[in-house]
Amino acid sequence: MLVRLTYASRASHGISSQLIREILDSSRRNNPASGLTGILCCNADTFLQALEGPRAAINALYNRLAEDNRHKDLTILDYEEISVRRHANWSMGWAGAKQANRELFLKYSCSDRLDPFSMSAEQVNGLLLELAASVTTINAPLID
Ligand SMILES: Cc1cc2nc3c(=O)[nH]c(=O)nc-3n(C[C@H](O)[C@H](O)[C@H](O)COP(=O)(O)O)c2cc1C
Repeated sequence: MLVRLTYASRASHGISSQLIREILDSSRRNNPASGLTGILCCNADTFLQALEGPRAAINALYNRLAEDNRHKDLTILDYEEISVRRHANWSMGWAGAKQANRELFLKYSCSDRLDPFSMSAEQVNGLLLELAASVTTINAPLID
């Protein structure tokens, strides 16, 4: 049973390149063995992440994420059974904090700042699909 869980959270102490590096290192170390893929995006102090994989592994990771005090206010935006992955190519795709993403943030919400807490599941899914098209896993600037 494959599922996709999409959630938002707020960094507890800001988002630095080092924090992103640590998260991506953990993801790339752990996710493949559990059959997990996904995409992570952030802006200012906000994370938006979609996780895809076996239901048990997704739920176990979410429980771990909820215990991680580097972020807070975890809010599930969407949880669905899926037959096909959207983010199958990466253990964790990093959508970056590129200037160009602001246009996408504006396209799918009221402003050009990422605010998934005020977006519908449909908007969030549309945004992540478009961000996925621009993901590069290697050497993408962590924060510019
Ligand atoms: C926003 C955010 C996203 C994360 N995504 C993942 C992930 O996809 N996979 C993962 O194993 N850990 C992820 N982590 C880290 C976990 O909370 C946890 O620290 C880690 O899985 C522990 O495993 P490690 O000791 O191998 O690093 C994330 C943390 C944050 C703050």
